[in-house]
Amino acid sequence: MYHDFNYEATLASSLRAQWQLDDVLRDDQDLDFTRNFMPESLARTAAVSSLNPFEQRILNQISAHQYLAIFGVVEEFILPFLVDHARPHLMGDDWRIRAILNFASEEAKHIHLFKRFHQAFVRGFPVECQMIGPSEAIGAEVLRHDPLAVGLVILMIEWMTQAHYLGSIRDDGDLDPLFKSLMKNHWVEESQHAKLDTLIVDALAEGRTEEQLDKAIDEFFEIGGFLDDGLKQQAHFNMDALEKAIGRKVEDRDAIIAQQHQAARWTYIGSGMVHERFKASLESLSPRAAERIAEAAPIFA
Ligand SMILES: [Fe+2]
Ligand SMILES: [Fe+2]
Repeated sequence: MYHDFNYEATLASSLRAQWQLDDVLRDDQDLDFTRNFMPESLARTAAVSSLNPFEQRILNQISAHQYLAIFGVVEEFILPFLVDHARPHLMGDDWRIRAILNFASEEAKHIHLFKRFHQAFVRGFPVECQMIGPSEAIGAEVLRHDPLAVGLVILMIEWMTQAHYLGSIRDDGDLDPLFKSLMKNHWVEESQHAKLDTLIVDALAEGRTEEQLDKAIDEFFEIGGFLDDGLKQQAHFNMDALEKAIGRKVEDRDAIIAQQHQAARWTYIGSGMVHERFKASLESLSPRAAERIAEAAPIFA
């Protein structure tokens, strides 16, 4: 076995680590717009040399708005996936059903928390930032795929939040403390989700032939390509918001869009694809699956 995760221990850790919405952001708390919100390792906004430091910070905050929007979208398809997965097991192992329902309940709380951060962002930011969606339509497109492919996408997302938090503490401390706390608290609960999703993926893959697994990886790539198109569209929206916020057109608009799209690819896809634990799950499913995903990973670096 490539891991020692089990439902009972994971549920116990989850219950110990749980936090409430107000512990992370109260309704009346404001974000500090004099600071960056996103770690540079993810936003890559300090690398945009045609913008001055003030404009780079605006773009960094727009990148944080994107974080709230993208996580809002993905958590909204994780929740129905979990509920669907839980339903056939309602009468089975008590630890398993409690762990999965708790996982679903925590994701519902995360959706709520991301919305609360979004409201705080809108209150403090000078212009409206458009976001891709509606999330129901994105969710429906993702969820029409093989549950194993969806489970793998979710597993990749769960592990990537670990890299996001580590990225945010590695940065030099200039980040808005509330946004940093969002990353930290999300990571705390996601680290248990990643274990549960590992068990869910193992269960969904059980008994599949090599050919069926290969087909599931095809669908994993379909979902990845679909999400990547969304990131590209979002990079255009982000540039529109930047130009509105700074009150001028930027000359190298297309180059910045491409650079920011690449940053988003790393943040929302690549950083999960190369995570050791995600790779271990793939390896145990099928070495060929692991190989196919490793080959694609550099595109998302
Ligand atoms: Fe979450
Ligand atoms: Fe999660």
